[in-house]
Amino acid sequence: MKDSGSSGGDAAAGGGGSHLLVRRVMQMTMVVVAFVVVWILMYNSSSPFAIPVFSRYITTRDSTMISYDPELESVLKNASMENKTVIITTLNDAWAEPNSIFDIFLKSFHLGIETERLLKHLVVITLDQKAHARCQALHPHCYQLETKGDNFTKEAFFMTQDYLKMMWRRIQFLGSVLEMGYSFVFTDTDIMWLRNPFNEFYNDGDFQIACDFYNGNSNDLNNLPNGGFTYVKSNEKTIWFYKFWLNSRKAYPKMHDQDVFNKIKMNPLIQNIKLKIRFLGTTHFGGFCQPSKEFNQVCTMHANCCVGLDNKVNDLKILLDDWSKYMALPNNTKPNVHASWTVPQSCNVVETGKTKADDDDQQFI
Ligand SMILES: *[C@@H]1O[C@H](CO)[C@@H](O)[C@H](O)[C@H]1NC(C)=O
Ligand SMILES: *[C@@H]1O[C@H](CO)[C@@H](O)[C@H](O)[C@H]1NC(C)=O
Ligand SMILES: *[C@@H]1O[C@H](CO)[C@@H](O)[C@H](O)[C@H]1NC(C)=O
Ligand SMILES: *[C@@H]1O[C@H](CO)[C@@H](O)[C@H](O)[C@H]1NC(C)=O
Repeated sequence: MKDSGSSGGDAAAGGGGSHLLVRRVMQMTMVVVAFVVVWILMYNSSSPFAIPVFSRYITTRDSTMISYDPELESVLKNASMENKTVIITTLNDAWAEPNSIFDIFLKSFHLGIETERLLKHLVVITLDQKAHARCQALHPHCYQLETKGDNFTKEAFFMTQDYLKMMWRRIQFLGSVLEMGYSFVFTDTDIMWLRNPFNEFYNDGDFQIACDFYNGNSNDLNNLPNGGFTYVKSNEKTIWFYKFWLNSRKAYPKMHDQDVFNKIKMNPLIQNIKLKIRFLGTTHFGGFCQPSKEFNQVCTMHANCCVGLDNKVNDLKILLDDWSKYMALPNNTKPNVHASWTVPQSCNVVETGKTKADDDDQQFI
């Protein structure tokens, strides 16, 4: 569209030799412009046409650019539910060390309600050799992501270059999982799985995301999302959206994926393709920023609003102790329980001088 418009403009500017020529060229330009306008109106304003336009764009680009690692395809296939859905997390060495986040993460599936059986659908994407070895020792579905010379072994501290690279690699990777036809729940490893979350997702949501702070309306784009937990269905809209998200980083080079998401979430192009975004409430999908107050409903708890690996490990262990105490109660008293978490402790959310945004998702990956 832009191409034909601008070349018409160039012709008009270059044809200044004679008045007649100028007029001819102007007329031609008008025709071209009118045609382009009609084309835009037809294809973009009426929704049935909008998606085919985007999907054509995607398929022509994909067929030439993308080929998938057969190893990844086999790992996904092996871990997939019947309806091509997988649970995905990413892991680097700092978090994979014994007695660290990864161990606690796996433990939560065993302590949760109806979560143990979800482990066979969990794919762990490892970012270095050491994390991969540790994953393979503990879990059947591990896939090592080649990272083209980047070394993610150490802690990649929040907002450093390594951290940003790692986060964007994650978006790119998840986009290709969608293209391969798999829907996924992405979960950070510092999220405890206490109940099966699939019962709480919205049927009509293409892209569903947990929140640091939830305002009570799952459709409200003003919610403050946390990219550490998402449920994304594989379809043309989400595939387009992940490309759009990844490309938008060029406009905001110093930002991480979550902040760029906040920048683009209101973009009219997203409304145009009718991508349905839903925000997941903190009653079911809580965290240290805004803990779930309902032990009888909580599905996941995230060590968000927390800086530092040791602090996370400390408080997640306490969180699982709280949960175990709840689970030990007799079934008939559970519905009447008004328990509350004894965390955060080391993860101090009310640290002075920090805004909410500073505290969002302060983790290594
Ligand atoms: C498939 O998964 C099972 C465990 O569910 C595992 O034992 C097996 O090695 C996996 N096969 C491949 C090819 O990954
Ligand atoms: C990556 O970094 C770790 C720790 O700094 C180091 O031990 C390891 O050798 C590095 N690996 C590569 C491939 O550079
Ligand atoms: C896929 O299967 C799981 C497990 O049975 C279910 O909870 C989930 O809702 C299904 N997803 C879709 C999109 O049907
Ligand atoms: C309590 O309920 C859970 C599931 O709701 C069940 O698996 C468990 O067996 C029950 N325990 C007792 C002691 O009845």
